[in-house]
Amino acid sequence: MYRSHPGGLLDVEYDMEALRRFDGQYWKNLFNSRVGKTNWPYESEKLEHATRITDCSVKSMARENTERENMCGTTEQGHAIRLSSSSSENFSSDARNNGASRNLSSDAVVNLDHGDPTIFETYWRNMGDKCTVVLPGYQSLSYFADTKNLCWFLEPKLEESIKKLHTVVGNAVVDDRCIVVGTGSSQLIQAALYALSPPDQPKPASVVCAAPYYSCYKEMAEFLRSGLYKWEGDAHTFDKDGSYIEMVTSPNNPDGLCREAVVKKDGGKRVHDLAYYWPQYTPITAPADYDIMLFTVSKCTGHAGSRIGWALVKDKEVAQKMVTFMTISTIGVSKESQHRAAKILEVISNGCEDLKSPNGNIDNFFHYGQSILTKRWDILRNTLKNSRVLSLAKYPIKYCHFTQDFSEAHPAFAWIKSKDKIDDCEKFFRGHKVLTRSGRRFGSDPKYVRVSMVSKEEDFELFIKRLSSLNNLNIISAA
Ligand SMILES: Cc1ncc(COP(=O)(O)O)c(C=O)c1O
Repeated sequence: MYRSHPGGLLDVEYDMEALRRFDGQYWKNLFNSRVGKTNWPYESEKLEHATRITDCSVKSMARENTERENMCGTTEQGHAIRLSSSSSENFSSDARNNGASRNLSSDAVVNLDHGDPTIFETYWRNMGDKCTVVLPGYQSLSYFADTKNLCWFLEPKLEESIKKLHTVVGNAVVDDRCIVVGTGSSQLIQAALYALSPPDQPKPASVVCAAPYYSCYKEMAEFLRSGLYKWEGDAHTFDKDGSYIEMVTSPNNPDGLCREAVVKKDGGKRVHDLAYYWPQYTPITAPADYDIMLFTVSKCTGHAGSRIGWALVKDKEVAQKMVTFMTISTIGVSKESQHRAAKILEVISNGCEDLKSPNGNIDNFFHYGQSILTKRWDILRNTLKNSRVLSLAKYPIKYCHFTQDFSEAHPAFAWIKSKDKIDDCEKFFRGHKVLTRSGRRFGSDPKYVRVSMVSKEEDFELFIKRLSSLNNLNIISAA
């Protein structure tokens, strides 16, 4: 039996239509499988959607258990729902308006470890049906999309939308490039490592990236114990002979800085991961023009769930090898996802072209993205301005050819450094119920943490509230 905060009985309403879609055994199994688990994605979203509980705020216990486990390594089994003391205090008007918010209690754990780009959800909600894609049952049965294209599984509509968007934004050269589509740019990173590793060498090619580097490169390079390539860590200290592949991430995840390759030796190949080279994150200073450039809708538009990335590849032979990798690993890429991504990119491009209309700035996705990230960065900088123990990187002001204005970067992550006696910044934040990713994971110092700036509004608000209370207690501010 559950009681509401004032002691009355909890009024539970079930969405019978949603529940009826599956039989009782399905729900039992789902419920049992989710409670107390830490598998990602954590949330028991189906249960949250199927059960609407009125009168007091209720949150999925599975999420709560996960958060507790992440926090202190223990699990509290049992209840499937939890009552929260606050009902609406953490709702931003933004999130409340679109009905998308979760009601976080003021002492909830804030998970800012992942770079899940849900910050853009409000924008897409407000776009209504503009991006809705309807696919009849007879469409896209074939493995093939365009047999004349080197990348035979790439939907022509997506290719067109990608080229148009880069041309409108001015962030990459697309002429005379092969486009290879992937299941997220994650798959393309692996395809590029395969394509760039010489097949006939006695030793594997070294894979390097300047620290702090995106933590998944190491994981991807080591996962299958390939004989073709081997992770060799920080590019700054790399001194081996032989072939190597340098990952160049610009702007960089985790620290947001724009970068160039650092290894200057013969026999090297480079992969430019430009996932964040979009105007909401950084000024667009020139069209990028490298041999292999990787992009992803995950970071461009926020549609990480569609799992669509693309590579712009200069050399046809390299592109062909990447296509071979994709053919063997997944026989291409979901056509449904490609259709959706094509539509979304097209809508964004059209919004950019309409800049002169009275609605121009509102419809322009990048203006929206830039303004919401600027606001968050201003709030964060302001909150930490008197801190004696936590500091943030500064970014140079540059001219952006897309916005035609000067601005500084507003990266997708804050790279926070602790001073003083805090040697393990991730542990410090965990102790205050904020989950971050330790600098260690990026080949850097544990005095650093990476904090997502692209979470939902309520998570960001709660993070700021948590920092403010640490300020008030003189824990992070000057006494
Ligand atoms: C620098 C960088 N490259 C690639 C990826 C992978 O993105 P995708 O969702 O397209 O696989 C990420 C995701 O966080 C990233 O930060």
